[in-house]
Formats: sequence, structure tokens, C-alpha cells
Amino acid sequence: MTEPLRLGLIGTGIQHSLSPRLHAAALVLADLPGSYELFDCADASAAQAVFARLRRGELDGVNVTTPFKALALQSADAWLRTARHKAGVFTQPANTLFMEDNRLVASSTDGHGLVAALLGAQVDLVGKRVLLLGAGGAAQAVAAELLALGADQVRVANRTPDAAAALVDRLNTVWPRSAIAHAWGESRGLAGVDVIVHATLLGHGQPPTPDVLADLAVQLGWLPWEAWAARPPLLADLLYAADLTPLQALAQARGLPVDARLGEAPIEEARIHPERREPKGILQYFGQAMLAHQAARAFQLWTGQRVDALRMLAAILPR
Ligand SMILES: NC(=O)c1ccc[n+]([C@@H]2O[C@H](COP(=O)([O-])OP(=O)(O)OC[C@H]3O[C@@H](n4cnc5c(N)ncnc54)[C@H](OP(=O)(O)O)[C@@H]3O)[C@@H](O)[C@H]2O)c1
Repeated sequence: MTEPLRLGLIGTGIQHSLSPRLHAAALVLADLPGSYELFDCADASAAQAVFARLRRGELDGVNVTTPFKALALQSADAWLRTARHKAGVFTQPANTLFMEDNRLVASSTDGHGLVAALLGAQVDLVGKRVLLLGAGGAAQAVAAELLALGADQVRVANRTPDAAAALVDRLNTVWPRSAIAHAWGESRGLAGVDVIVHATLLGHGQPPTPDVLADLAVQLGWLPWEAWAARPPLLADLLYAADLTPLQALAQARGLPVDARLGEAPIEEARIHPERREPKGILQYFGQAMLAHQAARAFQLWTGQRVDALRMLAAILPR
């Protein structure tokens, strides 16, 4: 009989994570016995104690989230290079760990999640101009994928300019002259972007109440909302909410249309359909779709089994 798989998530304040539901669905879909545990770690040494359990074979694979993604990368023996990054190695804070040949291997499946969710929504990135809000762990993972998928240019705007500059330097080393650091608060140059990817903590864990939206409208009032209402770019928000995220709700209030379309096929089968119109405006439930795809990829790294990310997604979408 197959030994039950022991999987889990390391992070802080993760009690409301959707990952246990996603991986419970994956275990059922793959017909594998196992469990997915939450390791709520107060500090780095508690997280390292869980890494040690993985090294000893007491666990089969773990996801890592805030604030231990950088620590996971530092603690690993190897970085799993993704096939799309042929141009060069672009390491990112890790969200997935597993053992292979006695080595602790780190990877990030966030970029895969983004790409799969975009392809599933019939978004073709080739030649597109992208505004990336944020330069943290998730932004680093997705920036590389956007360029690997053929985006023409990625403008990185971050509250702390040094972090945007550092990310842009690293991106341009692998994809020369593709990334630009954009000043936070500067609207010039943004009216014509095709895609906005939101990867900051603005609105994280908050429902879009009038107070939250009023605050966000002040923080993001510098964005060219009028131009975007006239020519809507696609808005892919990494955050997720039961209905609209605060940024999605603000964008809707500023005149951007909502496109509730989700991926219709898993990434392995997802292809841009030539007869289909590309979506414009706010991609509702994009954060959940990305989360399901990144989880499916992690599950595949741990078990070797591909599971249908869209069926995993069904386990977390509001009914
Ligand atoms: N859907 C998915 O599958 C998925 C996957 C990964 C992450 N996410 C979500 O993506 C978001 C970012 O995650 P992360 O791991 O990248 O976090 P992180 O590494 O902590 O980075 C946080 C980012 O948010 C910015 N930020 C924080 N507070 C801000 C504020 N008040 N105003 C403007 N910018 C602010 C930070 O800018 P500074 O550099 O100035 O601090 C930084 O760029 C989270 O909400 C997370 O849940 C979703």
C-alpha cells in the first residue's frame, strides 16, 4: 500500500490559507492518500525546524509563504530552473521545497501560476506592455515569467524604489532592455499599458468596504484611471476575495469593465484560441486561478502527478 503523503505549508498567520482545500482536492484527484498540514511558525528557527523534518524524510513536500520565502531559498541546496527560463537562471524567493537525491530543492511555482491563469483566460502576452505594481517575492516570480512569455516591456513600480531598481537590474541581465523602473506616484507613461499585474499588499486581507476603497483611492489616485476607463487594460490582481478585491472594486468604480471569465482548460492544454476575443478589464477571481495553478504545479513537483488545476480551483471558488 502507498504510504500517505505528508505535505504542508510553512508561514506565519496562515490559519485562513486556501492551500489545505486545494491540496485536499489534489489528493482526491490523484487518488493518493495523504494530508496537508499548516505549520504556523513564529520565527525563522521554527521554520528551519520544519525544513529539517523535510530533510529527514518526515515530510514529502512543503509550500512556503510570507515571511519565509527568502529563508527557504537560502536554506536549500539547489534551485529548480524552469523550462521557460532558457535565457538564464532567475532565482526567486521560494514557495515550494522538496527532497531530491539527498538535496533540498527550492522552486517557485508562483510564476507558473500566473502564466497558467493568464493563458487559461486567453491572454496572449507577446508584445504586450505590462505595468507590475510591487517588487516583493510574488512580483519577482511573475516579472520573470511575463518576460519569458514574450511581454515586450515590464515597468516595475514599487513603493520603495530601490527594490524596483534591484528587480529591474536582475531582469535586464537575463532579458536585456526589457524592464524599466517606474517611479511610484508617477502617471506618465502608463496610459498605454496593456496589462496591469498587482502584486503589492495594498488591500491584502481586506474586504472592499467604503473605508478601504477610500483609502486605496488615495494611495493609488496617481494611476491614470481616466485613460484606462477609455481604453481598458487587462487587470490581473494576485490578491483574492470572495467577490471583488479592493483594487478590482476601485478599478470598477473608476470605469473598468469586469470580465468574470476563468480559464477553461489546464495550462497543459490551454492555447490561445484564434477566434476568441482577448479579455479586457478586471479579471475576476484571477488570484484564485493563479493560486490553484501554482498549487497544482507544486503538487506535481512533490508527487510527479499532474492534476487538473481547474478542478482544484472549483474547491476554493465562492459557490
Ligand atoms: N494568487 C496567488 O497565487 C498569489 C501568490 C503569491 C502572492 N500572492 C499575493 O501577492 C501579494 C504580495 O505577496 P508577496 O509575497 O510578494 O509579498 P512581499 O514579498 O511581502 O511583498 C510585498 C509588496 O507589497 C508592497 N507594499 C506593502 N505595503 C504597501 C503599501 N502600503 N503601499 C504600497 N506598496 C506596499 C511592498 O513594497 P515595499 O518594497 O515598498 O515594501 C512589496 O512590493 C500578497 O497579497 C499575496 O497574498 C498571491
